[in-house]
Amino acid sequence: MKKRAATFLIILFSAHFIYAGPPSTSAFADEGMWLPLYLKKMNEKAMKADGARFSADDVYDINHTSFKDAVVRLNGGMCTAELVSAEGLMLTNHHCGYEKIAEHSDVTHDYLKDGFWAMKKSDELPNPGFTAEILQYMEDETDFINNAVKNISSDDAKEARIKAIKDSIGNAASKDGKFKARVENFFAGNQYFLVVYQEFQDVRLVGAPPSSIGKFGGDVDNWMWPRHTGDFSVFRIYVGPDGNPVPYSKDNVPYKPKYYFPISLKGEKKGDFAMVMGYPGHTNRYATASDLAYSRDVENPTIIDAFETKLAVMKKAMDADEAIKIKLAEDYASTSNTYKYYVGQELLLKHGAGFSAKTEEEKGFTDWVNSDADRKKKYGNVLSGIKDANDKLATIEPAFSYFNYGFASSPLFGYYRTYSPFFKYTREGAAKPGKGDLDTAAKMITDKVNAYFAGGTGEIDKKAFAAALLDMYNMIPAASRPDELTKIVSEDKKAATPEIAVNDFVDKLYKKSMLLDKDKASSFLKHPNLKKLKNDPFYAFERSMLNYYIKNLLPTYYSVEQGIADNRKLYLAGLMEWKKDKNFYPNANSTFRVTYGNVLPYIPRDGVTYKYYTTYEGIVEKSNPKDPEFIVPQRELDLFAKKDFGRYAQDDTLRIDFLANTDITGGNSGSPVVDGNGNLIGLAFDGDWESMIGDLVFNPATNRTICVDIRYVLWVMDKYAGATNLINEMKIVEK
Ligand code: ARG
Repeated sequence: MKKRAATFLIILFSAHFIYAGPPSTSAFADEGMWLPLYLKKMNEKAMKADGARFSADDVYDINHTSFKDAVVRLNGGMCTAELVSAEGLMLTNHHCGYEKIAEHSDVTHDYLKDGFWAMKKSDELPNPGFTAEILQYMEDETDFINNAVKNISSDDAKEARIKAIKDSIGNAASKDGKFKARVENFFAGNQYFLVVYQEFQDVRLVGAPPSSIGKFGGDVDNWMWPRHTGDFSVFRIYVGPDGNPVPYSKDNVPYKPKYYFPISLKGEKKGDFAMVMGYPGHTNRYATASDLAYSRDVENPTIIDAFETKLAVMKKAMDADEAIKIKLAEDYASTSNTYKYYVGQELLLKHGAGFSAKTEEEKGFTDWVNSDADRKKKYGNVLSGIKDANDKLATIEPAFSYFNYGFASSPLFGYYRTYSPFFKYTREGAAKPGKGDLDTAAKMITDKVNAYFAGGTGEIDKKAFAAALLDMYNMIPAASRPDELTKIVSEDKKAATPEIAVNDFVDKLYKKSMLLDKDKASSFLKHPNLKKLKNDPFYAFERSMLNYYIKNLLPTYYSVEQGIADNRKLYLAGLMEWKKDKNFYPNANSTFRVTYGNVLPYIPRDGVTYKYYTTYEGIVEKSNPKDPEFIVPQRELDLFAKKDFGRYAQDDTLRIDFLANTDITGGNSGSPVVDGNGNLIGLAFDGDWESMIGDLVFNPATNRTICVDIRYVLWVMDKYAGATNLINEMKIVEK
């Protein structure tokens, strides 16, 4: 599962969605995104009972080589990857490499459509800005920090001091920038751990199957089982000749990892041990029943609606033009992925899933709280506090959702953001720019502005912008709707409908704004003029929209969020005190986690049992040359017809995907799945439709990780693509 991407404003306005709530206690070995540094203490026994033949130290050891040295946090936590050769070769999902594959593609070299294979290292393609981080160590700083602030009584002073200490611990651990080190909050802010990474900046694309393998089943099969997707792509980490991480240079050499995973061809049977290591992004496992209701009634419907608008505009444009299709491919794929996530979650919530588990827990907690006067004083208002805050937030949710997922996630907003070097001069009460300042700002963005116009998406961006504005007008209650937007409709007396008024407005904007005209924008950048910029109708409109949020909505938003965060912290502290003897795991926060369990089927609904694996026969069955999501490459069909599976077969068939009851979420995409010997058997890439509320409640009966079988990955590389150069680099453990 890929971490659901956030635009600038989603980040700015998203404290609510970046869950910091507490985890649930683990009744089952399969639930839990465990911390590597407590694996020995909390999990080793259960791990071994499940079938692990390695120790906790084999997974995470700061003095010796361990599995963690081969697990990569990809591109700032977007996904996970793993090292599989002594020469820095790395596997991740196809949907994790998708953006890079798209960036190297055009109509004549469409690597999304046809795949890409570097048959020698000099053909591998650099990806500036695409990073790989490897965890060096984690350290619990909780006692140290708590001790240092125990005599500070004011909350604000305490917070400030904690922040300063966290920064100084991080700085010291970075060893003058050699490492990326920071102290992060865990358990909703009840604990603090230092995490230290080495970051690599030269990560090259080595190989990718065509989307008809890597994204087989498309949006139809996405988030669902039975699945037949070869969701993998191949990258390689490069370092400077001295072995240190540096940005791309042709003189760089392949990275020699401390550890890389051997690959097993043995395959998996029902009940076999499986372990996943990686970087889950966000969960809110200690969401309360009122949080679930908030998602169901308030948040999800608005997100779903905003995304529907965006997707409809994109789809039309993509169907009409191949070049546009490639340009928008990544935005479309990730938007539709997130869209379907919310649709699935909403469906389950509407059926009541998760509520009884939460209500029961809250009742138990409340009874425990009420049985003691001190506890009552401390925790008595925590659940009602969360509920009250949710009720307050509900009134402004549409204003934020339609802004974040419509307006601010449309490309025109990104284009406006390229002018950010000018922002400090156009703000209210801004100091006058010095001599040459405006020219400097203009120079900084000239390439980006030119690139925007060269992109050729102007017409679609205009439509997406208008559609997002119309949604905002229609769906945000007048009390929290930006004035400027309300005026568009109220002042256009001639327009018969809001839609006409909004379209008129956008047309006019495009006629009058110099920034929306290629030549005028370019001459502005040659002779930047502050007055002209401030008066530009597009620039002024975007500013007024933002200012409305900053002045009218953000203060409420932040204060409610702060209240929720405080209550979540308290609630988790209470739960941990109540269930003193349980092992708790913290919510996902894009740090290294370990989850283990078994290869297992499941029952999705009454009368149906799902097998735990799929085979090539399902691909043949689903194959449909008329449906772009189910086209199978002819070459693959031919190989299937010959049953040319070589050493990758199990029981005379080729397995494609399989299931395990491990506990993952977005950010885990591409994570290594290892067997009881620690050998690679697959890559995690998705969750299933019946557990779409998994980020809020883990249901052991249906929660599964969908993995691509490593033998299908190798078969595609070897038999389909002929990339034996890559196979030869790997350490393959035969049956
Ligand atoms: N659901 C997967 C995830 O969140 C992404 C799968 C990509 N495939 C697709 N058809 N969009 O990681």
